[in-house]
Amino acid sequence: MSEALSETTQQPPYPLPKAYSLLSPAMERIEARIEETTQSAVRLVPEVSNHLTGSGGKRIRPILLMLIARSNGAGAGQGLDLAAATELFHSATLLHDDVVDLGHFRRGVPAAPRIYGNAASVLVGDFLLAKAFGIVVQHGDLDLLRELSRVVQNMAEGEVMQLIRSGQATLSMPGYEEIISGKTAGLFSWCCRAGASLNADNEHRVNTAAEYGRAFGMAFQVTDDILDYTAPLEESGKDLANDLRQGKTTLPLLLACEQDPDLLKAVAGLSQDGPTEEKCQEIIRRVLKTSAIGRARDKAGELVSRAKELLGEFPDGPAIESLRELTSYIVNRVTVR
Ligand code: IPE
Ligand code: IPE
Ligand code: MG
Ligand code: MG
Repeated sequence: MSEALSETTQQPPYPLPKAYSLLSPAMERIEARIEETTQSAVRLVPEVSNHLTGSGGKRIRPILLMLIARSNGAGAGQGLDLAAATELFHSATLLHDDVVDLGHFRRGVPAAPRIYGNAASVLVGDFLLAKAFGIVVQHGDLDLLRELSRVVQNMAEGEVMQLIRSGQATLSMPGYEEIISGKTAGLFSWCCRAGASLNADNEHRVNTAAEYGRAFGMAFQVTDDILDYTAPLEESGKDLANDLRQGKTTLPLLLACEQDPDLLKAVAGLSQDGPTEEKCQEIIRRVLKTSAIGRARDKAGELVSRAKELLGEFPDGPAIESLRELTSYIVNRVTVR
């Protein structure tokens, strides 16, 4: 079990380590697969990869894939390759994201670009992306592969949309939803689609799983965006308010500006004159003074309800019960680790 998961065991209600044990020993085999896949004769490649994969992480994407697969009657050995691929895709996007977002900390340790530089982080991210695609090619389901290439394309588009809108706090709710659906929820949706398709005798079930993953992923990113305003480095493992510093308008800021329209000017000032610590602290204070965090939590709660409704279409059993717990946990978590 990764370091971050064992830390989670210290705080109820323990749904991540519970899911991990339910899936044991498959999860350990997935870890081994991840490690094997990141090997290369070019030593910097495993060094940068291991810096990220060895420093923790929830492994939520492989867990989702495996739980959906089990709930659909897949055998214990099925899905390990695809589950490892999802974590490799995720790892690649994190290496790229810490370059794009100038993230200083990730999983409680300095982010890879701070240690190895931007170039190495981008290039090793590309290596992981290629390895992950290779695993899915080897798996041989062309529909899944086609869907995944669309997901990765939408991820890049979501990130680029976010980049274009940076410094503009006038983002609309549909605009925000489009960004998070592309950059985050698409991969979650694919994880669930892939898990369900392992034993696919039912196209409707596969599509329902994909829809569940989309709602789960949207709720997950909304919560991550809330924690960016509320969880300090010791809890999140990431820099507090990095989204604001990077000029990203996420749901808390979007909702706060609706209530306090003068904030729009303050945010515009940040991108014009640079994000001084004092100005950032002032904006954070004003965001927290509004009901934006509570309303963002309500939004995450609605997405969770939708996700749970979709789970209702699956036959009950330990895997679905675990998914139900995880679906609640992702929005109630106080840390992002
Ligand atoms: C972080 O993902 C990036 C987002 C999509 C918000 P996770 O919160 O799953 O990161 P780790 O893998 O647990 O560190
Ligand atoms: C997730 O968004 C981006 C990816 C899909 C990698 P964030 O930029 O909010 O992720 P963190 O907070 O840095 O983990
Ligand atoms: Mg980031
Ligand atoms: Mg974030």
